[in-house]
Amino acid sequence: MDKIFINHPEIEKYIFSLLEDDDPVLKEMEELAEKLNFPIVGRIVGKLLYLITKIKKPKLVVEIGSGFGYSGYWFAKALQGSGKLVLSDYKGENIQLAKEFLQKANLDKNVIFEVGDGVEIAKRYKDIDILFLDHEKSRYKEAADALKENLSKEALVIADNVLWYGKVLKPEQSKKVKAIDEFNRYMIKHFDTTIIPVRDGLLLAQKR
Ligand SMILES: C[S@@+](CC[C@H](N)C(=O)[O-])C[C@H]1O[C@@H](n2cnc3c(N)ncnc32)[C@H](O)[C@@H]1O
Repeated sequence: MDKIFINHPEIEKYIFSLLEDDDPVLKEMEELAEKLNFPIVGRIVGKLLYLITKIKKPKLVVEIGSGFGYSGYWFAKALQGSGKLVLSDYKGENIQLAKEFLQKANLDKNVIFEVGDGVEIAKRYKDIDILFLDHEKSRYKEAADALKENLSKEALVIADNVLWYGKVLKPEQSKKVKAIDEFNRYMIKHFDTTIIPVRDGLLLAQKR
């Protein structure tokens, strides 16, 4: 099945053009993602994560799959050191870059940089107020299930790529798509959940 753009690319371009930001660090990160073809959440979702975080005022945010820190940048910008942020990635070089970018942006206060399996890392934290999933899509359900007890009351779970460019319309086409579809259904059953059809689909859920 072909890739479906959830929103018209021109509409995304228009929104992006409105979300001007003159932070050179943000631009540098976006340019690096472009150069490496690295899948960051992008500015539209980033700004949404920033707003959700500002509204929620969390004491602890944990990210699984931080890459080189682009989504982390938006969480850190919203927190301004007032809550703890844990970034995690399998790859040490990604986490090293994340550290350098957040330091350069002066957003590294109260940020913990962890290398390893993000699900195992997250299990060490209690009372997580926002859990952000952006690692292997086939492991989203396992992460949400395993970390339920680590979430604070009314915690938010946010997950990226839950529409997988429309491929969820035919979940039987691959194990990965099936796993995403199962995760979406699991979240709808166990949490107060919706899917925001922005970029590649962002799932937003609150613990009941
Ligand atoms: C889509 S990228 C993350 C992008 C990042 N959230 C952003 O928007 O800037 C996915 C990342 O998850 C990492 N990853 C995959 N599985 C992981 C796991 N189980 N634990 C930690 N990191 C993982 C990969 O190394 C990769 O850097």
